[in-house]
Amino acid sequence: MCRLLPPVALLLLTSADTRAADLPKAVVSLDPKWDRLLEKDNVTLQCRGAYPKEDNSTRWLHNGKPLPGQSSTYVIADARVKDSGNYSCQTASFTLSDPVQLKVHADWLVLQAARWVLQEGEPLQLRCHSWKNIRVGKVQYFRNGRGQQFSHKNSEFHIQYTKRAHSGSYFCRGIIGKQNVSSEAVNVTVQGVAVPAVSPFLLLWQMAFCLVMGLLFAVDTRLYFSVQKELRSSLRKKRNDKVTCGKNP
Ligand SMILES: *[C@@H]1O[C@H](CO)[C@@H](O)[C@H](O)[C@H]1NC(C)=O
Ligand SMILES: *[C@@H]1O[C@H](CO)[C@@H](O)[C@H](O)[C@H]1NC(C)=O
Repeated sequence: MCRLLPPVALLLLTSADTRAADLPKAVVSLDPKWDRLLEKDNVTLQCRGAYPKEDNSTRWLHNGKPLPGQSSTYVIADARVKDSGNYSCQTASFTLSDPVQLKVHADWLVLQAARWVLQEGEPLQLRCHSWKNIRVGKVQYFRNGRGQQFSHKNSEFHIQYTKRAHSGSYFCRGIIGKQNVSSEAVNVTVQGVAVPAVSPFLLLWQMAFCLVMGLLFAVDTRLYFSVQKELRSSLRKKRNDKVTCGKNP
């Protein structure tokens, strides 16, 4: 009994541990969903988490420093470069969210995507967003310096089913007024679907299986031919017997 106690105690301890870690995390989402912005853009950060009746306040952090206000949304209007950084939130019954990184650029163009890291097969959608949504023409998207798509108007760049080869450094370029302007380049990563490694034991087992099957097949084939041969010779013998029987009643 005494010997059983320590593992039981350990079990209780670990279950208490996991319970603490299982507390739900709040989640920050962006509306619109772009995490790369230009100055003067607007974005609303939303904190998702449960709000108990007695406390519906939200705590917001920007680069670890508390922000004023307790609303479940945090509005950034007329964004400035200094609004860049990590945002996280927390509610009364949810733990601190993972940070969401915002980047505000002082530029003419910025490349935008909902996500920069994808799994193979997921769609990629890129936007070439201009300062104050000013008109931009002759828009071209590039991957690793090679042109991918050209449009006279500013169309988005879509890949329906991405492959790993679509990973790379992307930027867009266009004409604003008479100026030829480019966005900063951003890395897009398309990850392969994880293939479970084949264990050497399984490989050996498969090899043994194939070997046995091959042997069985060889034995079977030999058996088949020898039985056939025997059958044929016995048939011939029978026929011969019949013939001799007919001749000598
Ligand atoms: C941000 O919001 C203000 C006020 O609604 C609006 O005037 C402005 O055009 C918006 N900025 C952009 C880039 O859309
Ligand atoms: C913009 O500039 C690049 C070189 O910097 C040039 O290759 C390209 O043709 C220009 N685009 C237009 C539409 O003039």
